[in-house]
Amino acid sequence: MAAQVLQHVEVAVATAHAEVVGVVPVPAVEEIVDLDGVVSEHETEGVRSSLGGAFHANVHACGLALGDGRRQAPRLAPRLARRAASMLIGRAMAELHGKIAFVTGAGSGLGRAITLTLARAGACVAVSDLRAAAAAEVDAELGTLGATVACGPLVGDVAEAATVQRWFEQLAAATGGRLDILVNNAGHADTDPETQARLARQVEELMAGGRVTTPLEATARLTDERWQRMLAVHLTGTFLCTRAALPLMAAGGGGRIINMASIAGTTGIAGAVHYSAAKGGIIAFTKALAREVGCQGILVNAIAPGYIDTPLLDVLGEQRATQTALIALQTVLGRLGEAREVAATALFLAGPGASYFTGQVLSPNGGLVV
Ligand SMILES: NC(=O)c1ccc[n+]([C@@H]2O[C@H](COP(=O)([O-])OP(=O)(O)OC[C@H]3O[C@@H](n4cnc5c(N)ncnc54)[C@H](O)[C@@H]3O)[C@@H](O)[C@H]2O)c1
Repeated sequence: MAAQVLQHVEVAVATAHAEVVGVVPVPAVEEIVDLDGVVSEHETEGVRSSLGGAFHANVHACGLALGDGRRQAPRLAPRLARRAASMLIGRAMAELHGKIAFVTGAGSGLGRAITLTLARAGACVAVSDLRAAAAAEVDAELGTLGATVACGPLVGDVAEAATVQRWFEQLAAATGGRLDILVNNAGHADTDPETQARLARQVEELMAGGRVTTPLEATARLTDERWQRMLAVHLTGTFLCTRAALPLMAAGGGGRIINMASIAGTTGIAGAVHYSAAKGGIIAFTKALAREVGCQGILVNAIAPGYIDTPLLDVLGEQRATQTALIALQTVLGRLGEAREVAATALFLAGPGASYFTGQVLSPNGGLVV
């Protein structure tokens, strides 16, 4: 069996690589979920002996309680068993093998895709979100992948210092003080009905082939509350999690911090000065911190996506279809991005291939900005 399994290593590695570069669709979560349930004990033993101690090492590094490591599962058709075993090998050899990650805003969109992508690459992932049910759902998916951290889903507002402190106490208790990867992703977008209406008028003016003359006047209407909340969630949230993560990473000899910025922070978005300022602040924060902590082996980078098809864009309301169609027209690749394409960028920044990247801003934007 071990020989058969080894024949499939190449396929498994190719599959994993394809996921990273997006040559083939990312395997469905259920497909991977099957993996942990379908490998028989005998086949798992074959894999284990082929890998030496690597399999056990991953289990222990992640603090997972799997007893004697044996799996109870029904025997399967040889083809399926081989495929499952090959994927098991692919995962055990994966680039984030044994790493511990923490992702904020993991309950939806980019955070969820990043969480599951890091998990498929071998990391154990702790998740947090403002919405308890969403956090619990993604944590349960991690459970089926065998990639949870024993702190459970961490629920609350990333902008609250006491909440973030509690998250990191729980995380550190579960991991023995270890953290290798932090993804500061939590965020939101907002607008007001008047800005929406004016945007619609601007679109009509464009469609009519004329100049845009309707002013948005969004900044003139922007309230203190919306301004402060935007900066609190994005910028303060990024700072709070980073401050708590740094001692854990420093104690472990290094780490990766990935901050979710946006093209709003590099080019600005009309009608969203608060969002653009927060994201621009995150980019400056990323660069300054990269300079500060590089000598401790901590690499700090930002991702500045273009428009990605996630629930965040629901902020466009009735204008969503029209606005995204216009955005797609201005994008070289002619479409919005998918969450998995940003997750692939995060995986790169978290992995060995990014060992010479720090203080950088990678922008998966389909050519909207070139
Ligand atoms: N979708 C895009 O086009 C796009 C583009 C560039 C950047 N981004 C950024 O990517 C990040 C993720 O966005 P998304 O598109 O996945 O959005 P999303 O709405 O699908 O997911 C955001 C998640 O963050 C959580 N969250 C929001 N506020 C929070 C808070 N105060 N504390 C804890 N959790 C909170 C939400 O509950 C949600 O689960 C955001 O920072 C966003 O600004 C998104």
